Amino acid sequence: MMRWLHVAVIAGSFPVPAFSATSASCLSQRTRQALDEEAYGEQSMQLLQHARDRHGRLRVPPSGFFNTSAILADSPRGTFLSRMAILVQAVGLTYNTTTPKFQPGLADANISSGAGTWFRKKQFDRDPEKGGVFARVFANDEMHSAIIVFKGICDTIGLEQCIIDACKLNSIGAYGELSEGIAAVFGADDKTCEGYREQLNFVEQALSYAAAVRSALEDYEIILTGHSLGGLLAIVTASQLGLKALTFAPTPFHNVLKQELNFTDEQISGMDSDDLVSL
Ligand SMILES: *[C@@H]1O[C@H](CO)[C@@H](O)[C@H](O)[C@H]1NC(C)=O
Ligand SMILES: *[C@@H]1O[C@H](CO)[C@@H](O)[C@H](O)[C@H]1NC(C)=O
Ligand SMILES: *[C@@H]1O[C@H](CO)[C@@H](O)[C@H](O)[C@H]1NC(C)=O
Ligand SMILES: *[C@@H]1O[C@H](CO)[C@@H](O)[C@H](O)[C@H]1NC(C)=O
Repeated sequence: MMRWLHVAVIAGSFPVPAFSATSASCLSQRTRQALDEEAYGEQSMQLLQHARDRHGRLRVPPSGFFNTSAILADSPRGTFLSRMAILVQAVGLTYNTTTPKFQPGLADANISSGAGTWFRKKQFDRDPEKGGVFARVFANDEMHSAIIVFKGICDTIGLEQCIIDACKLNSIGAYGELSEGIAAVFGADDKTCEGYREQLNFVEQALSYAAAVRSALEDYEIILTGHSLGGLLAIVTASQLGLKALTFAPTPFHNVLKQELNFTDEQISGMDSDDLVSL
């Protein structure tokens, strides 16, 4: 009952062009009322589909705030810098609220910008115990806009989490011929990495995380971001879930797409360059 009532109120606030004041004046009061009811009824049905998600929550159309085409075209002027300022903070705060760069003074920080505040949604914090994919979500509830951030590689020599990152990067040949040498510096030799096999499914971790966030924030516009390894995960995840990503110096992702998701070179070059951006 509440459901219908609410939708009807929304429907009532929409103009009904087919029954404008002039044409309606030719009709009898009763006919007009009947037609209006039918029109509203039909609109209500349509609105019912669009206005509520499957949990019955009100759907608000996404603001289009993170429109990647508009950001890249800097249209209107200032769009690029204002959006970047928010994403850069999101990436910085993700490094600074996770090990090993955790800074107590930033433990509760949110992102403030001229366009509003993006609050850290701590219920989505992902901090795997040993290592793997670290992630944060920042959201602006008024704009129904959410940012998923994947943390980049950690580089503290000897830290387990960083060894796991190094194993991952080596397994995808992230640094070409230097990969093994770089992995060795972190103590990520083959034997050590074999022991972390269960932690190395980064793409799977990122995909299931982003899918869970998306279904929890179903009516939000979602953009993925990240730097280095985090950028790679953002691009790969967005390409799989049909979301958009705007990333900073991502680790080359072609090998991951090919090895882990069975993409062909053709499919990779056909990926949506408007929605998947590397800066
Ligand atoms: C995104 O921006 C482009 C270019 O400015 C514009 O043509 C398009 O309509 C925008 N899309 C949305 C969903 O706002
Ligand atoms: C994260 O910490 C570094 C080092 O202290 C600092 O330069 C950077 O501005 C911090 N990022 C944010 C978003 O506070
Ligand atoms: C960030 O927002 C939360 C509310 O979501 C608030 O509790 C917290 O104090 C804010 N952080 C800062 C540093 O103001
Ligand atoms: C990719 O192909 C391999 C071998 O054919 C298969 O085992 C694997 O499940 C595929 N992965 C995906 C994500 O389709």
